[in-house]
Amino acid sequence: MRRPIEFKLRRRTLLAASAASAVAVGFARRGVAQEATAAARPAGPETSTVTLTINGRERELTLDNRVTLLDALREHLHLTGTKKGCDHGQCGACTCTVNGERVNSCLSLAVMHDGDEVQTIEGIGSPDAMDPMQEAFVEYDGFQCGYCTPGQINSAKSVLEEINAGIPSHVTDDLTAEIAVTDAEIRERMSGNICRCGAYSNILAAITQVAEERS
Ligand code: FES
Ligand code: FES
Repeated sequence: MRRPIEFKLRRRTLLAASAASAVAVGFARRGVAQEATAAARPAGPETSTVTLTINGRERELTLDNRVTLLDALREHLHLTGTKKGCDHGQCGACTCTVNGERVNSCLSLAVMHDGDEVQTIEGIGSPDAMDPMQEAFVEYDGFQCGYCTPGQINSAKSVLEEINAGIPSHVTDDLTAEIAVTDAEIRERMSGNICRCGAYSNILAAITQVAEERS
């Protein structure tokens, strides 16, 4: 009669011991898994503080390092004149100038421009005091919906400065002579600015008008 009782006791002890070891192993495994998850979890976004001079005004921004210059202008400084068309460097809607040279701001990280001078369409002119290029676009109907226009005007101004500085393009015939402001030169140099409304001939007329005024 005593043996079965002893067996039950041993069995209970065994089951309790097994359960305790299973729980212990479970906790140990969970601890290892939690450590692994913590190690694999990415840290928060890396940020940098940059100072940009935008349209003559110094602005300090602390930004995620991945923020483009375009998004810094539009989303952080609310300068929405610079447009986002493709966000891939294909349309030119985001063109602004950095230290006097035109750039596609969607292709450039804002943190690369610490100390740089940026000019956007808001700094070129206003309805009451338009830049000659803006006046020419109005005079020659160089836009329809206007979405591409800030980028077109920024590029157009840069095109004339590049020609004036003697910087050749793919259609420049004589690299030793002064570069003439021809239709071909303007079309080639403006080819990075797409207009879905197709206002190209009027844009060309506007730029030619400004070039003639300057000569
Ligand atoms: S939005 Fe930058 S090139 Fe299109
Ligand atoms: S005016 Fe509409 S996209 Fe150029």
